[in-house]
Amino acid sequence: MNIDDVKVLINKNDVSKRIKELAEQINKDYENKPITILCILKGSVFFTTELAKHLSPTTNLEFIEVSSYGSGTVPGDIKMLKDTRDSIAKKDVLIVEDIIDSGRTLSYLVNMLKNRKPNSLKICTLLSKPERRKVDIDVDYIGFEIPNKFVVGYGMDIDEKFRNLDYIGYIEE
Ligand code: IMP
Ligand code: MG
Repeated sequence: MNIDDVKVLINKNDVSKRIKELAEQINKDYENKPITILCILKGSVFFTTELAKHLSPTTNLEFIEVSSYGSGTVPGDIKMLKDTRDSIAKKDVLIVEDIIDSGRTLSYLVNMLKNRKPNSLKICTLLSKPERRKVDIDVDYIGFEIPNKFVVGYGMDIDEKFRNLDYIGYIEE
């Protein structure tokens, strides 16, 4: 796999523009209340920082990492690799995800996080592949709905490659 196999799906300007719009919507909805952003490592790091730059200055950042399931694994196999530093109890938590595919990762996370009694829990994802959904989840903010393609860049990888592209590309099959 090399960079010649990566085609542009959403260019840098369109990604930035959309993230700014999402942030404006979020600021409006939360009325500048302090939000705890929960960044899901590693894929959401680029999206999180770009989004957070446009959010209220009272925004907090937390990071978690979960093991992704491989093919053949069941949803219950998802494990927490890195947890938040501070408690999310009574906080207004916004999960920031790079992409929702089957929905299994987020559905696991939402169930687990709800038990910690946040004041509110919402989901913001840069990308969503609706055709691939296996588990129903309510997503509050979606950057782009995309077709069933494997995407890279803007935090997303294929075997740890191409995360640092400043646009969203896809791998041509
Ligand atoms: P889900 O649990 O099936 O919704 O998968 C979500 C996770 O799978 C995302 O957070 C990504 O880490 C990864 N993923 C799903 N689709 C893609 C893709 O097209 N490119 C890169 N990673 C992906
Ligand atoms: Mg991810």
